[in-house]
Amino acid sequence: MNRKYPWADDSEEVLIKLCAFFPEVIRERWVERIVLTAERIAAYNSRERVDQDVFWQAVSEVFPGGYDPLVLQIKDMDRLRAEMAAARAQEDLAPGSEPVQMVQWRHALEIPARVDSQARVLAVTTSPRKGGNTDVIIDELLRACADSGCTTEKIYAADLDLQPCTGCRACRKGDLPTICTIRDEMSAVVYDKLFAADGFIIGFPIYTARENGIMANFMDRWDCLLNPMLTRKMPAGKKAVVVCSWMWPNPHAYDHVIEQIVILLKLHGIETVDVLAISGTRGKRHGRGVVKNHPDILKAAYRAGASFVQELG
Ligand SMILES: Cc1cc2nc3c(=O)[nH]c(=O)nc-3n(C[C@H](O)[C@H](O)[C@H](O)COP(=O)(O)O)c2cc1C
Repeated sequence: MNRKYPWADDSEEVLIKLCAFFPEVIRERWVERIVLTAERIAAYNSRERVDQDVFWQAVSEVFPGGYDPLVLQIKDMDRLRAEMAAARAQEDLAPGSEPVQMVQWRHALEIPARVDSQARVLAVTTSPRKGGNTDVIIDELLRACADSGCTTEKIYAADLDLQPCTGCRACRKGDLPTICTIRDEMSAVVYDKLFAADGFIIGFPIYTARENGIMANFMDRWDCLLNPMLTRKMPAGKKAVVVCSWMWPNPHAYDHVIEQIVILLKLHGIETVDVLAISGTRGKRHGRGVVKNHPDILKAAYRAGASFVQELG
């Protein structure tokens, strides 16, 4: 690719090293993204060349945080080794010392005034770990909702008979009273619950750098709700909080995955008003429920639940 800007030799070298990981069929795309971003940063900051500083700024813009291990392999191998060793040693972490963090995406963080609400809140978690981190945070959100008078319910998607979409597209051919032709608990009970809820709490863990398979399957089964011939439309005006948890201790590692889910919900007419992103869930039993050892996080999750109720009215 042509360079519009001078590149320092060592920046050129790390670019080649970093992109060597990618199979040839996608390598040039990554080179192009990094080069364009680096040159834009250099130009914007009146730098004479793309030096290492500009280069790594560009990399942090271009690569989602979930690529940290790949980037660290070239940028800071010692840190990568330390991170990997910390992940392996997680069973020895003393409860409360885990690197777990929660980032709340919504800004207004004042303690919300207590409101009385009759909203119906449906939580769905797609983590198969009962008492896991997603589950614990959802419980705090639900507790706040229930304390304000909301009717609450939690569904473990992993316990449902939830078949994968078969792609038959019957849901594009006519008005289906069962919404989807698959006879399972989604068409028997879950669609009705989705229609009835005023607010959703949707929780999922990151598996292999994306939403877990149960979540992907669950959201595929929403697609039939977009059937233009359906007479039973999803009522408008519903709101959601999204909860996501992962092990890697970068609080923004999987923001892009969460954003995709937020956009997907928006396509279904649901406005996500808050996101709770929980990272660094290392600890005993592979970090199962370690967030429970962090009272400040539990409190913040409860507060987020109270804010959600205010949104629901
Ligand atoms: C199959 C599998 C794949 C995973 N992949 C990742 C990953 O790519 N990145 C990461 O940070 N954590 C990964 N994790 C860790 C989970 O995201 C983490 O333990 C999360 O907190 C689980 O949520 P839960 O406690 O609600 O079940 C993975 C876990 C499993 C079981």
